[in-house]
Amino acid sequence: MKRKILNQIKNDYLCRVLKDVSSYMKNVYDNVLETIGNTPMVKLNRVTKEIPASVYAKLEFQNPGQSIKDRIAVHIVENAEQRGLLNANSVIVETTSGNTGFAVAMVCIIKGYKCILAVSDKTKPEKISYLKALGAKVYVCPTSVEPEDPRSYYEVAKRIARETPNSVYINQYFNELNTDAHYHSTGPEIWEQTEGKITHLFACTGTGGTISGCAKFLKERNPNIKIIGVDAEGSILKGYFDTGKIRKEDIRPYQIEGIGKNLIPSALLFDKIDTFVRVNDENSAYATREIALKEAIMGGYTSGAVTQALLQYANTHTFTENDLVVLIYPDHGSRYITKVYSDHWMEEQGFVQNCAENQDKEFRTEYVYDK
Ligand SMILES: Cc1ncc(COP(=O)(O)O)c(C=O)c1O
Repeated sequence: MKRKILNQIKNDYLCRVLKDVSSYMKNVYDNVLETIGNTPMVKLNRVTKEIPASVYAKLEFQNPGQSIKDRIAVHIVENAEQRGLLNANSVIVETTSGNTGFAVAMVCIIKGYKCILAVSDKTKPEKISYLKALGAKVYVCPTSVEPEDPRSYYEVAKRIARETPNSVYINQYFNELNTDAHYHSTGPEIWEQTEGKITHLFACTGTGGTISGCAKFLKERNPNIKIIGVDAEGSILKGYFDTGKIRKEDIRPYQIEGIGKNLIPSALLFDKIDTFVRVNDENSAYATREIALKEAIMGGYTSGAVTQALLQYANTHTFTENDLVVLIYPDHGSRYITKVYSDHWMEEQGFVQNCAENQDKEFRTEYVYDK
């Protein structure tokens, strides 16, 4: 008996010691969600060399789901948990052009919820496969219909959330927790990483959560920091910012995913933004490829868009060497291999600069066949 008790004490002690050791292990986590955030910032040395400022890209694709949307998914789901809205059978519903879906699906796996996603028919089949691989149920909806149409992905998601018991609709466009996630994580990180020296922040606006949350935090610290939103040609956000009116004539199809809108999201706090720059598909595509070629950073299409916006802004604004510019790179280029990184796709769009035909002959792909 005495021996048994002694053994038990010995085992308990060993377990405690081992547990302590694991909490000292560096860069070791209990699950993938713990690795969200604290993304690196990397100086751009070539693409923006004409601009005298120091320019840094915040690499949000280093989040485990390879995009900035991991931050909002975990924040919104954990808020619902804290409010007692979720149970073991809960379903998390969302509309998404991809990234938020990956993030929500990832969070659902770790936390044990079901995931239902309504996506636009602009979404590439490989993105849908990715969502399905993460266990999500996917509804594909037409982009060409009005947001109020019952077939739009907003309405489909709302209907599923309404009809599914114990469900939570993430509703990233109209959820203040989207903005809040960036106010509590991305904004403070940028402030700390730049030691408060940031002078300009450029961010693409889709839901507006990223730019609004970061801007709110940064302007509280220093109201002089310039916040520049990046919108797509074909979207209404810049027009609304400039005129206060929804200009239907601005709406037309475009290729960049995740940026711009045909509605005004409440997650977008226009009063925190100083100005908007509008970029087009073509220049954003070239910029995306330039970043890969010159900085060895494989960003997504909106990484190119935000960089292109800085180049356009620099045509009409003066920077000094004391300026410190931060660009947010929202997701990874691996999601665009058949789009902006494909010569074939570029040629289909009529985007010929930088494509195979224009490449230095020495670097063209050569096919070596057996005789
Ligand atoms: C690739 C990409 N870039 C930029 C954004 C814009 O971020 P936010 O919705 O926070 O404005 C999104 C949002 O969906 C995105 O998926």
